[in-house]
Amino acid sequence: MQDGMDPLNISRAEAIALLQYYAAAGVTEALSDVSVNRYDLAPAPAQAAAAPSAVRSAPPAQTRTSPVARSAFPAGAPRTIPLEQDASASIARDIAARCQSLDELREALAAYDGCALKFTAKNLVFSDGNPEARIMLVGEAPGRDEDIQGLPFVGVSGQLLDRMLASIGLDRTKVYIANVLPWRPPGNRTPTPAEQAVCMPFIERQIELVDPDILVFLGGVSAKQMLNTPEGIMKLRGRWTSYRIGSRDVPALPVFHPAYLLRQPAQKRFAWRDFLSLKHKIENLS
Ligand code: URA
Repeated sequence: MQDGMDPLNISRAEAIALLQYYAAAGVTEALSDVSVNRYDLAPAPAQAAAAPSAVRSAPPAQTRTSPVARSAFPAGAPRTIPLEQDASASIARDIAARCQSLDELREALAAYDGCALKFTAKNLVFSDGNPEARIMLVGEAPGRDEDIQGLPFVGVSGQLLDRMLASIGLDRTKVYIANVLPWRPPGNRTPTPAEQAVCMPFIERQIELVDPDILVFLGGVSAKQMLNTPEGIMKLRGRWTSYRIGSRDVPALPVFHPAYLLRQPAQKRFAWRDFLSLKHKIENLS
């Protein structure tokens, strides 16, 4: 780095240390040369519903300072919270409801600009597997490999998922796979409640259009979001419940996320038990 060319005005050694810090914190993408303090941005006008955008720039955040935000933070601290979350989710719901096929839903998602994750992701990760399958798996959100390939569960956790499926005689020709969020959260962070809420109508519609006979929720984020429960995956896993699709109550099973099993291999014994239960349920499908 040469003198006068460094916008941060730091030395080469400091720049390397900063990069090492970012790498250790899980930052994998450089989005811009300078950081943006989004709390300092002026409130933006409301965004038009799902207008396809030729330019991949982040849409303005729909935020304004609420009385809650003002009272929750010390005077002088300019904090904003999104108040338009419900409106965004309702726009998303209208768009999703109009889709009569999975192809239409994929196109609508590709054109949808209401979730900021789209603008940091490389690809939309819509689905993999067989849309005619009777079993649908719902994960959390794409990771790095999925983002690059545009397919769910193709990284190491996907490879473990494939082995788990194979252990009960399944593969991707016999299941359909999607995620609560179709875009990768930067650095694989947990999606925020606002991101989950705005993507929710799409995965709900995706489930309706696939119309499976059995649902499997992979991991706590998926299980909690799709079952609308505050219970954690430790309590939820292995306990059959049901998920409403139209007029049908479809059996649904929360299980540990394969990425968690990679970190905690001792928990695989519970996953094995849950997959045997899944196998049993499939064998007893009418
Ligand atoms: N984890 C998920 O939840 N989904 C993917 O597609 C990949 C990893």
